[in-house]
Amino acid sequence: MKPVILDVDTGLDDACALLLAARHPELDLKAVTCVGGNVGLDDVVVNTLTVLEAAGRSDVPVAAGAAVPLLQPVRAAPHVHGADGLGNLDWPRSTRTAGAGHAVDLLRDVLRAAAASGELVTLIPLAPMTNIALLLRTYPDVAAGLREIVFMGGAAGIGNATASAEFNIWTDPEAAAIALNAAAELGVPVTMYGLDVFYDVEISLDQARSLGGSPSAELARKLIEKRSELYQSDGASIGDGGAVCAVIEPAGLTTQSFPLRVELSGTWSRGRTIVDTRDWSADLSSDPHGPSSTVVQVATAVDGARYADLWLSTVK
Ligand code: RIB
Ligand code: CA
Repeated sequence: MKPVILDVDTGLDDACALLLAARHPELDLKAVTCVGGNVGLDDVVVNTLTVLEAAGRSDVPVAAGAAVPLLQPVRAAPHVHGADGLGNLDWPRSTRTAGAGHAVDLLRDVLRAAAASGELVTLIPLAPMTNIALLLRTYPDVAAGLREIVFMGGAAGIGNATASAEFNIWTDPEAAAIALNAAAELGVPVTMYGLDVFYDVEISLDQARSLGGSPSAELARKLIEKRSELYQSDGASIGDGGAVCAVIEPAGLTTQSFPLRVELSGTWSRGRTIVDTRDWSADLSSDPHGPSSTVVQVATAVDGARYADLWLSTVK
């Protein structure tokens, strides 16, 4: 089994990711950490616990982390996720509470245990990277427990929160820059599952309506129905869930290695992930900025049908 940790701002599509990670037989979900993002931290925690309960995985440790980004106020996305972050679904909310410790402490403890055992963990951030930046700069030794980081965020092409920037990076650009630079310095391999592939793992309403018979399947159906309604379409992407698919079946994802920087200052471009796809050496050598030493595997294409099948067959 592959040990994984999810860092989430649940979120309808984080919920799709959580169901998959909690139910897939080849994943060992060691912990889930929460951060303010799509909704405020308190709602993120309740939503996360609610989804894990539906998946029959109330055993998974959950911790609350950063409520606000490093430098700017939190910016929610109720137009994408509803006011409560879970589409105001008719679904019983968990009454469980998160663990007493901070998310960064839970991440540290799990990763140090992984380093000691040799069973390295894949970290899957699906949210603003505030917790991850704090973790890697406070406890850089945890890199020894990390196999890789596969994060949802950014884009080589267009954004969503702005024309330039994807929501997770735009919400806390400093954290994204710190986390990605730290990972590069610490030698942790990073894959960016960005908007270039994010929308391509789609579940049709017909497929969603075939789900049922267990709390996990019922919730999965409702999540897709709600996302379809919000997007006014007859199907919806599993969004963040695709990043978990990429960990389970990496062969379904095409990636290319590119230098990357996070834009921290542009009026119209703050939060953009600048993916350097240039290959003419004369341009590169005369660039006054010099090459970025932060190099990541950028997802450029995904086998959407394969990942849709993987998700459907797991959550049912
Ligand atoms: O921009 C995509 C991100 O925003 C995802 O993490 C998802 O949660 C959505 O709200
Ligand atoms: Ca998310």
